[in-house]
Amino acid sequence: MSDIKKIKDDFLLKLKGNLDLNQVNQIKTDLFGKAGLISSQFKMLGKVAEKERKKFASDLNQVKDELQNLISEKIDDIETKEINQKLEKEKVDITLPERPFTQGKIHPVSQVIDEISSIFSEIGFSVEEGPDIENEYNNFTALNTPDNHPARDMHDTFYLDDKKELLLRTHTSPVQIRTMLNDKPPFKIIAPGRTYRSDSDQTHAPMFHQVEGLHIDKDINMGHLKGCLNYFIKEFFEVDKIKMRFRPSHFPFTEPSAEVDIGYEIKDGKIVIGEGDKWLEVLGCGMVHPNVLINVKVNPDEFQGYAFGIGIDRLAMLKYGINDLRAFFDCDYRWLNHFGFDPIDVPTNYRGLSR
Ligand code: PHE
Repeated sequence: MSDIKKIKDDFLLKLKGNLDLNQVNQIKTDLFGKAGLISSQFKMLGKVAEKERKKFASDLNQVKDELQNLISEKIDDIETKEINQKLEKEKVDITLPERPFTQGKIHPVSQVIDEISSIFSEIGFSVEEGPDIENEYNNFTALNTPDNHPARDMHDTFYLDDKKELLLRTHTSPVQIRTMLNDKPPFKIIAPGRTYRSDSDQTHAPMFHQVEGLHIDKDINMGHLKGCLNYFIKEFFEVDKIKMRFRPSHFPFTEPSAEVDIGYEIKDGKIVIGEGDKWLEVLGCGMVHPNVLINVKVNPDEFQGYAFGIGIDRLAMLKYGINDLRAFFDCDYRWLNHFGFDPIDVPTNYRGLSR
């Protein structure tokens, strides 16, 4: 029996066994590797007597093809078997009950911020943002509230360093400064966000939310401020008529300044906004003080306008009947499930603007 035939028969026998992938690969190397049996036969080709060489070469090639095909088939077989075993083990049991599906809720404060943003965007305000950590200049000095000004004490500020240069912003008004320093007038922006004061009871939390408004242009007067706030309150509470009063007040960065109250009454234990003879304070506002404009390099003889700051949490409590402010920030999942909003439950006055 020639060498070639013997090689073939030996390997046919080996390949019949129950082999794994590694073993088959080993056989492949034994035959066709650099020093493999078939490869060695090819190397011997030159030494075979001339008249036998042709037949030897053709036999060798035939055996080579045969064994190569067998090996490929064997590898295919093993791989298919492995896949089938895996499928068998991992098959899906469609009779199992589904996993419970829990959907998150939108926090009432986020919901109200979206509603406010969409109402103001309807009348041309764009939305700006500023950082929670502010410097003392933007939060106070640039807003015409110099060092030792009594208004600074009223704010119960959280300072972040001994020199009192960095702080948690006590209101969203520093975004007025940032916006005006960054751009040229006219300005027509709102800035919702978190604010901080060292205060805590049923209606005060150390972290709360405000939305700032700022409108600066060439001919802006207090009538525009009244019109804008009147429109906003009506849209927000979804009422046609609103009772509103401007009470003289003081803010260092506005002159004149006012606080705005809205009329309400209690009917069947529920607050009804816009009627009645009770008053509720909802925001502070005024005409931007010329000193503020000078601080941000806007000429007060050419430009003027109004600003306002609305307490968002207070508005959310009123609109959605929530009576303890602290519950907003307790992170109680049951509370959020009750007062939160479904992501697809779009309010009627929502006009598509998302933060
Ligand atoms: N920043 C003021 C506050 O927090 C509110 C306000 C904003 C008043 C803008 C006037 C103008 O009390």
